[in-house]
Amino acid sequence: MLSIVWIILLSSSLCNCLDNGLAKTPPMGWLSWERFRCNTDCVNDPDNCISEQLFQTMTDIVVADGYASVGYEYINIDDCWLEKHRSHEGKLVADRKRFPNGIKALSDYIHSRGLKFGIYEDYGNYTCAGYPGIIGYEEKDALQFAEWNVDYVKLDGCYALPYDMDLGYSTFGRLLNGTGKSMVYSCSWPVYQIYAGIQPNYSAIQTHCNLWRNYDDIQDSWASVENIIDYYGNNQDLIAPNAGPGHWNDPDMLIIGNFGLSYEQAKTQFAIWSILAAPLLMSVDLRTIRPQFKHILQNRKIIAVDQDPLGIQGRRIYKHKGIEIWSRPIGPLYQNFYSYAIAFVNRRTDGTPSDISVTLKELGLINYSGYRVEDLYENVDYGVLYPNTKIKVKVNPSGVVMLKGEVQFPADL
Ligand code: GLA
Repeated sequence: MLSIVWIILLSSSLCNCLDNGLAKTPPMGWLSWERFRCNTDCVNDPDNCISEQLFQTMTDIVVADGYASVGYEYINIDDCWLEKHRSHEGKLVADRKRFPNGIKALSDYIHSRGLKFGIYEDYGNYTCAGYPGIIGYEEKDALQFAEWNVDYVKLDGCYALPYDMDLGYSTFGRLLNGTGKSMVYSCSWPVYQIYAGIQPNYSAIQTHCNLWRNYDDIQDSWASVENIIDYYGNNQDLIAPNAGPGHWNDPDMLIIGNFGLSYEQAKTQFAIWSILAAPLLMSVDLRTIRPQFKHILQNRKIIAVDQDPLGIQGRRIYKHKGIEIWSRPIGPLYQNFYSYAIAFVNRRTDGTPSDISVTLKELGLINYSGYRVEDLYENVDYGVLYPNTKIKVKVNPSGVVMLKGEVQFPADL
């Protein structure tokens, strides 16, 4: 009898994976890094420095201005929240001047507004900006995060050895889980390995992390967004199959509403991120964002594509002379026919919009009962179209047209 119990226990512990039941759809929220960086100068720049006030303010706006009601729920600190040294007992301490009430108070504030709280650390000796990393303190720090009621941990990979990450990242994920407090686990494991010339073990990564960075940090420019789009398109055979409910590729933050993207480009970032089933982490000053950018970030139809419960990452299915078509299978399904979100992207810069004409069949929409087609930005309903119907869209330079084709069931069903 005892040995049977032992065998059951043993087999249930064979999977040392994360399996925390979180991030069944890509996480949505706000993250400080791209917009606010490592601004620690609260004396000269009190409104923009990394401080508890900044996170409280963003929390308030996420709730008051409608972001929470469309799905944004995490308020996440990035780098530069720490004191340069641990306490005498080896604990992590938030900067005493900029977070005078400490992390637990901030976490409580965010939770009291109905949102969730995320924090940043680094697997190595230091964070990328030079604050204490977790190495040597993994267990202590995991417990500390649980005590602070953290809901989401981004673990960066500066000042660490990429070869050690297979063990280090998986161990820390297990420690987080072992605290009994469920925390979304965001890893930078593959990106540092890729830069070190190591082929990441994506099957291990997707069992231990809820999301992971594959590529460069996003910067405030269209060139940076284009680079990321190209990376995910050019490497899709390797990358796309790893995404699914509970585990996502992370092409980095949304920079919509900052200085670098035009209105068209911002729409393109949002459309492609939703095709990629990407986490939607806004990094923007919500106090000053212009209404048209807010409108993009709150587009419920595109958010629904991103959050599609099937969790299948989309792909670039066409690329020629600056025109790209991206496609993502989504629900509802009829038999084995999916519905689809389709993004037509114009990477050309020749001033006038470009026409793209294509039949549904050419896009892979082959169900004879047809598809109800609508434009997700323009709110145009094209009605039910069939595989042989040719559709024509006009796409602005560096812009996008995004359609959804919802599979139709045969009339006699
Ligand atoms: C790395 C990460 C960024 C950000 C910074 C903070 O570069 O990739 O997302 O967290 O570190 O220093």
